[in-house]
Amino acid sequence: MQLDEAYWTNRYKEKSTGWDIGSPSEPLKQYLDQIFQKDLKILIPGAGNAYEAAYAFRTGFKKVHILDFSTVPLDQFKKSYPEFPTDQIFLENFFEHQGKYDLILEQTFFCALNPELRQSYAEKIFELLHPGGKIAGVLFSREFEHTGPPFGGTVEEYLTYFKPKFEIVSMEPCYNSIPPRLGNELFFQLRKPK
Ligand SMILES: C[S@@+](CC[C@H](N)C(=O)[O-])C[C@H]1O[C@@H](n2cnc3c(N)ncnc32)[C@H](O)[C@@H]1O
Repeated sequence: MQLDEAYWTNRYKEKSTGWDIGSPSEPLKQYLDQIFQKDLKILIPGAGNAYEAAYAFRTGFKKVHILDFSTVPLDQFKKSYPEFPTDQIFLENFFEHQGKYDLILEQTFFCALNPELRQSYAEKIFELLHPGGKIAGVLFSREFEHTGPPFGGTVEEYLTYFKPKFEIVSMEPCYNSIPPRLGNELFFQLRKPK
């Protein structure tokens, strides 16, 4: 299965978007709420409809950036949030993106990628972070029987990609998942060493 731009754009066009919760994800919302340093430069890759970015921007994180290679959700986002700076919206393949960030937020992007790309994801996140920068967000803590995304995994597997490069700040069962995902998610924070 080719999980390319055409695949995801088609999912948006067919409104086959089971991942889209229609509002900012509770774990990410609560994570943002406890950060007082509002001038962090943030990236949300594979952002889709990017409710978390709208929430972050509204609550004072003016340097939040979103990235997706499908134009459908990004066009919708621009319409819904005309106040959001367009130069902070990237229509681009994540693996080709150039930039440096203090914080990257993960929300159903990792699980949407072909698992063969997980090592490359870890390397790209490392490249995109400033020394001392962090990635935080949610990962599935279960496997799925269906073919195609979302692809699940385990802590043990995830650590094989991240542990060689990052300080593992936490990777634990997520206590504030939305009800349909409760018990099936991890909240994780990784720091790029200084
Ligand atoms: C499962 S959706 C999640 C969207 C959003 N994070 C959410 O939770 O609603 C995965 C998103 O990643 C995007 N995507 C997949 N591979 C990508 C890549 N290589 N570069 C940029 N975006 C990608 C898709 O277009 C899609 O919007």
